[in-house]
Amino acid sequence: MTELLTHQGRVAVVTGSGRGIGAAIALELARRGASVVCADLQQPSDTVSAIGASAVGVDADVSDPAGWAAIARAAEAAFGDVDIVVNNAAYYPNHPIDDLDFDTWKKTMSVNLDAQFLSAKQFVPAMRRRKWGRFVGISSNSIGLPVKGMSHYIASKMGIIGFMRGLANDVADDGITCNAVLPGLTHTVATEAQGEEQRRAVWQAQAIQRFAEPEDIVGPVLFLTTDDAAFMTGQALVADGGQYRVG
Ligand SMILES: NC(=O)c1ccc[n+]([C@@H]2O[C@H](COP(=O)([O-])OP(=O)(O)OC[C@H]3O[C@@H](n4cnc5c(N)ncnc54)[C@H](O)[C@@H]3O)[C@@H](O)[C@H]2O)c1
Repeated sequence: MTELLTHQGRVAVVTGSGRGIGAAIALELARRGASVVCADLQQPSDTVSAIGASAVGVDADVSDPAGWAAIARAAEAAFGDVDIVVNNAAYYPNHPIDDLDFDTWKKTMSVNLDAQFLSAKQFVPAMRRRKWGRFVGISSNSIGLPVKGMSHYIASKMGIIGFMRGLANDVADDGITCNAVLPGLTHTVATEAQGEEQRRAVWQAQAIQRFAEPEDIVGPVLFLTTDDAAFMTGQALVADGGQYRVG
């Protein structure tokens, strides 16, 4: 990992950063020089204390406009205008279509997809004024895989790619980019319920044959949130060890 402060002076919001992939993204953004607003349903105290003075924590529900207002207040009070938004929080219960109810469908859309829209409404105006901004939506490689019981989740994760593509068109003139990152199966609380055999079957279908750690997903997010990626927008980057290939 580089020691360069690629994100010095930037203010980043990372949702769902209390643990897992979100925590890994928040930690590395901070190590690269960013000030980080860590948002989660409960105060993400472990992540905030691991980062130190360049982090602030906020308990916020990303499916609720009030949650985004609270995130914006915390950012403003601690660091100022937000430059980077990483929408990582997710809801992912497994329900085959026969027992998938409408409330679960709506909650999945709300946490995974409404949050992307709400974050844009909250932060695009200030980004436009400053002529710089980065949105990264964490999608999933499951959009292209035969995963059972996840129709609602896959729909929401495809929606993230669609929203990033559309939003990219509306904000391009103001130096704002919008992209998605698609992790593969990764070692977090989310995948603990799966047995060793089931996980092995997944990573054995990857070119790089090992179970991903949260840190494996961080690199594409870092890249997309620097000036190096200023000419990339509306894209979907897959970080899954070469399991699902597009193009
Ligand atoms: N772990 C994997 O195998 C995998 C694979 C592909 C994609 N992803 C995606 O990566 C992202 C992170 O996954 P993870 O495995 O680290 O998940 P995780 O469940 O370990 O962490 C998600 C965090 O989001 C928070 N959260 C949930 N709902 C929220 C809400 N309404 N408001 C605020 N915070 C909320 C949770 O409290 C939790 O801390 C998700 O978008 C997930 O869909 C994960």
